[in-house]
Amino acid sequence: MQAPAVVVPLPNTPPMETYLETTKDVYKEAALTPDVGLCCTTTPVWAFPGLEIPKIMLDMNYGCGSTVHPRDLINSPKILYVGVGGGMELLQFSYFSRQKAGVIGVDVVDEMIDACQDNFKEAAAQNDWFDPSFVDVRKGDALNLPIEDESIDVAAQNCLFNIFHEEDLKKALEEMYRVLKPRGRLVLSDPIADQEMPDSLKFDERLRALCLSGSLPLKDYIKMITDVGFGTVEIRAKRPYRVLDKDRYDTDENIYIESVEVCAIKDPMPEDGPCVFTGRTAIYYGDEEYFDDHNGHVLLNNQPLAVCDKTAGNLADLGVKDMVVTDSTYFYDGGGCC
Ligand SMILES: C[S@@+](CC[C@H](N)C(=O)[O-])C[C@H]1O[C@@H](n2cnc3c(N)ncnc32)[C@H](O)[C@@H]1O
Repeated sequence: MQAPAVVVPLPNTPPMETYLETTKDVYKEAALTPDVGLCCTTTPVWAFPGLEIPKIMLDMNYGCGSTVHPRDLINSPKILYVGVGGGMELLQFSYFSRQKAGVIGVDVVDEMIDACQDNFKEAAAQNDWFDPSFVDVRKGDALNLPIEDESIDVAAQNCLFNIFHEEDLKKALEEMYRVLKPRGRLVLSDPIADQEMPDSLKFDERLRALCLSGSLPLKDYIKMITDVGFGTVEIRAKRPYRVLDKDRYDTDENIYIESVEVCAIKDPMPEDGPCVFTGRTAIYYGDEEYFDDHNGHVLLNNQPLAVCDKTAGNLADLGVKDMVVTDSTYFYDGGGCC
């Protein structure tokens, strides 16, 4: 008779079946007792004319950065927001959408859904243009969205996906990809860290749930996004977020965490790989009227052209004397090649 297989855990892979449950508990608590310091946004909250954000929504702002960009919101898009928190960004999205069920919110924690819906009543009292029916809040999991295929124009999440371990992050991104229409946009705001996170922190379920120890290096985060099929990625902002210092956390060196705002577009994948815009620019300043790389890029004399990292690398490799190709600024706001 064959001996029963013995499952030996691989080193550095502690069990993590329970972290999703721990995350739910953390956010149940954060719904019942709002905690202003839970997440730390470094951006001012977007103010728009005629928009009043109730104080309770500000107290329950558990995101980092913003996913609400007016330029994504033209032509009455159908919007999905996963991980509702206190509902602040849902209200901001509704400001642009202003139609019944124009925004769908999905969250897995009952108490958070209840708190968010209560906050919408307060928002309606303070904003005469807003009606709580503008937001369709559904109970559901980011890993199995209760949303039809290809039905969404703009899908957003703020400070939730960083909590997921890589297999779950892959699933969450695949779900967003599935529900987006072709050319639809996925807008993300998450912490990232280029230093390696020690396992003791990475597998600390509570720290992870608090968005402190799930951060990936930016290049890995981008690769996860492009690996599910997004053909274009824009890094719109990158800002300081937190420090995990070695006196307080189980780490040999201080870990510096930043937050990024990213937009991934469900464009077809180019044959030579995704176009990732990290704020690089090329300028040709030679004697000719323009420079043509015969690969689809024409640089008019002394006019900056925003280029994706792939094109930036190709242009730099040409070694053209009168051309500068800048480093990434991590501030990309549209236009340019590709
Ligand atoms: C860090 S908070 C961010 C809230 C909100 N996006 C914001 O910016 O204020 C994470 C949110 O995701 C929700 N959440 C946690 N696990 C989830 C899951 N598996 N699927 C959907 N939502 C989840 C929590 O209840 C909470 O509302």
